[in-house]
Amino acid sequence: MFKTRLRRLITLQSAQALDCVALMPGPNLRYLTGLAMHPSERPTLALFPLHGSPALILPLLEAQGLPENLPFEVRLFPYTDEEGPQGAFEAAAAALELAGKRIGVEFLQMRVLELRRLEQVAPGCHILAFEAFLHELRARKDDSELDQMRRAIRITEDALSATIAQVHPGQTEEEIATELRVTMLRAGAEEVAFIIAVAGPRTASPHVSPSSRPLEQGDVLIVDCGAVCGGYVADITRTFAVGEIPAKLERVYAVVRAANEAGRAAVRPGVAAQEVDRAARRVISEAGYGEYFIHRTGHGLGLEVHEPPYIVEGNDTILQPGMTFTVEPGIYVPGLGGVRIEDDVVVTATGAETLTTYSRELIHL
Ligand code: CO
Ligand code: CO
Repeated sequence: MFKTRLRRLITLQSAQALDCVALMPGPNLRYLTGLAMHPSERPTLALFPLHGSPALILPLLEAQGLPENLPFEVRLFPYTDEEGPQGAFEAAAAALELAGKRIGVEFLQMRVLELRRLEQVAPGCHILAFEAFLHELRARKDDSELDQMRRAIRITEDALSATIAQVHPGQTEEEIATELRVTMLRAGAEEVAFIIAVAGPRTASPHVSPSSRPLEQGDVLIVDCGAVCGGYVADITRTFAVGEIPAKLERVYAVVRAANEAGRAAVRPGVAAQEVDRAARRVISEAGYGEYFIHRTGHGLGLEVHEPPYIVEGNDTILQPGMTFTVEPGIYVPGLGGVRIEDDVVVTATGAETLTTYSRELIHL
């Protein structure tokens, strides 16, 4: 699998006339090689030359933790804490003859730390943006990737059900978030990507951290969360009612739910990403809440919580089978509160499959 992916990288690289691609620890490196590393103050850089085997500049302690049999040959350039990375960078640049070459990098991942060092050891090199091509490579998920996503979603939904079953007035947003986190980890999540648990008037802001505010009767409660399995992320939001909520918010809930359904119904191969946004937004605008839907309808989902394709007006990317993204319309009325309903979908050969299965009925706690 990784051999195929690396071959596709070489094809892309060659089409862009790049002599080398330099990748940071992160989603692209994990996708191409299976290496799940994290950037730290000790620089790590993977170099994929157009010809010859890849090279890895890394701290010695990381080198010892590498898998025994990587699915491809790699030249290691380790360095100790005492030596520092300079010598390893110089040796790798010399071995790969990087001076004056065209090098593709990830603008969202590479730091000034690595960039400066690379430019210094490869004088005259040209640094070019390669991220969009890597995202293209990752856009259509294969069955093994979809299996991981389904697992992440199942763990997330089960943990959400178990947590919601014991939520009660007086409990704080932080307590709910902690409970949910522990439940996901116990159920086998590799990690928890994020948790938003927010209630009452604070729900009028789509992205806020859980606070110490206790739940009250009449609150809406928004929970947005995702577990990670095999590097792949789930992302689901449900909005709950604590007892009876104002009739206005019941109405808002019904509109958001209809927008979520319209958005998902618009997903099929051959359609532009912006059409999905338009379908969901139309429902909200026609109900008179257009000004309160203050974000895009969704985002691609995979090794990253947010990745292309973005489901937003102006994005004419054509949806293809295997693409996975969220549909998450929301209405946020200042002073009243907010509602968001978020599902994960995969484009199929003929339409779409919604991977998330959690009930979209308004649940009263
Ligand atoms: Co979300
Ligand atoms: Co999302």
